[in-house]
Amino acid sequence: MKRIAVLTSGGDAPGMNAAIRAVVRAGVEHGLEVFGVRRGYAGLVAGHFTPMDRTTVVNIVHSGGTILGTGRSEQFRTLEGQHSAAEQLALNRINGLVLIGGDGTFRGASALASVGGPAAVGIPATIDNDVFGADRSLGFDTAVNTALGAIDRIRDTATSHELLHFVEVMGRESGWLAVSAGLAGGAEAVFCPEIPSELDATIARLRASVEAGKRSVLIVVAEGYGEGAHALAAYVGPRLDLDYRVTTLGHTQRGGSPTAIDRTTGATLGVAAVDALVAGRSGVVVGERSENIVETPFEATWSRSHEVPANRLALLHRLG
Ligand code: F6P
Repeated sequence: MKRIAVLTSGGDAPGMNAAIRAVVRAGVEHGLEVFGVRRGYAGLVAGHFTPMDRTTVVNIVHSGGTILGTGRSEQFRTLEGQHSAAEQLALNRINGLVLIGGDGTFRGASALASVGGPAAVGIPATIDNDVFGADRSLGFDTAVNTALGAIDRIRDTATSHELLHFVEVMGRESGWLAVSAGLAGGAEAVFCPEIPSELDATIARLRASVEAGKRSVLIVVAEGYGEGAHALAAYVGPRLDLDYRVTTLGHTQRGGSPTAIDRTTGATLGVAAVDALVAGRSGVVVGERSENIVETPFEATWSRSHEVPANRLALLHRLG
């Protein structure tokens, strides 16, 4: 292996820059030439490769987003686009690829391999934390803490005004952010797409708490739950006889300086990905599980799911 490239794809996640830095520096340490690909798979199709060395990744470890840019490429979804990406890689004599992103990114990597792409290793990065093969995807810890900061602030005003608040967090198909930020923020209830909720039983539980003197009720809702937080609020509010407000945190959760955990994970997995490529491995995602680095085949990242443990929600209900 002589020349490798690194790209970030899908939704950006805090810690991607820490991973890029680690990939570049580990590559240089191995005596490889390292290239960055602009805007994910779109850049691959267009052959946008930029040489990178130790100096091109200075002072990025603390910054959110990704210096390489990211995106979702319609062109790469086509067989034609996949072929031109493989051709661009061959033309530039790149024989190893590190892909940083979510399960969609690794589906793309499999497609690329099937049209003759180079050896490829993935790093799980998504604030949704739903990549099978890693206890924590890059960006998740930062996003939870960002959501938690907002929940804490809303709690202050909720207590003062005795209002019912709904906070919508990201997670189109995943409740990791909602359950984790909800539990840490002392939410009275959490609703997310993949865990069935007993809505009327929850309302009865909340009504009993309010009647017993609870001054504020804060409910965290994943964006993928039913029709979202506004629809849920319109159903629950009148049934509790409480005035309510809805706050959507949206893309504030995707940005910001990564936490120590996300920076450390980026460093660890960036180096692990390059080491795996150099050792001749391909078609796998590197991830941390119970403090060990494990390698999971690309296919498992979309055929299996990284589920929120059901006991987290039960715990929240017992405490809320
Ligand atoms: O990064 C993951 C995610 O935040 C999902 O939770 C969300 O549904 C989606 O990205 C929204 O991203 P975009 O605005 O790029 O479509």
